[in-house]
Amino acid sequence: MDARKLKIEAAAEALTHVRDGMRLGIGSGSTAEEFVRLLAEKVATGLTIIGVPTSERTARLCVELGVPLTTLDEVPELDLAIDGTDEVDGALSLIKGGGGALLREKIVAAASQKMIVIADETKVVETLGRFPLPIEVNRFGLGATKVAIAKACADLGLAGPVILRQKNGEPFVTDGGHYILDASFGRIPDTRALSSALHAIPGVVEHGLFLGLASAAIIAGPGGIRTMTI
Ligand code: 5RP
Repeated sequence: MDARKLKIEAAAEALTHVRDGMRLGIGSGSTAEEFVRLLAEKVATGLTIIGVPTSERTARLCVELGVPLTTLDEVPELDLAIDGTDEVDGALSLIKGGGGALLREKIVAAASQKMIVIADETKVVETLGRFPLPIEVNRFGLGATKVAIAKACADLGLAGPVILRQKNGEPFVTDGGHYILDASFGRIPDTRALSSALHAIPGVVEHGLFLGLASAAIIAGPGGIRTMTI
């Protein structure tokens, strides 16, 4: 079964959790975009929702397809966020940010009563860390922040390349105007400790570990759909 079909199946299942009148957080990435397409079809046939997009790219797609949008300033509390992921483990801890939208994604997830993750089976892991951890950093002091990250991680027994993300030969710049460092540590046994250590570094804006935010993960595989909960 092709990858796009699995993404559409996970997105379609997530859509069954959307009710009339909901305030929705709308994720970023190719799986979330499948959700936006299906959501737009429902909106066109009368579903009333209001959405907060997690990236400029998602916002453009929503506008193009007629999904009504608002902001967290207008609507600071959301009912449900639906988003993709780069990795999910059995505790529904996530690594996100492969598309560079992790900061807005985390703000939106935290403002939502529930977060449902949509993904295909390849994203499910036993221990997070196969996917490089995206760390959003302020452009000012990049070199010092990089050194501080390496030191903090070494203290936790984590080592590996920490690479400045590039796009078209230039540093990738997030919607918030920051850079992203992708840290390839391999397995991360203590995600809480790493999260705290990274948050203690002033140049770190946010990181892609989403801990305690997701309430369910809808996983599509060749054998069908399954929902992971905790
Ligand atoms: C963007 C994200 C995406 O949700 C994540 O990268 C998954 O994307 P895709 O559905 O394309 O695999 O975190 O920042």
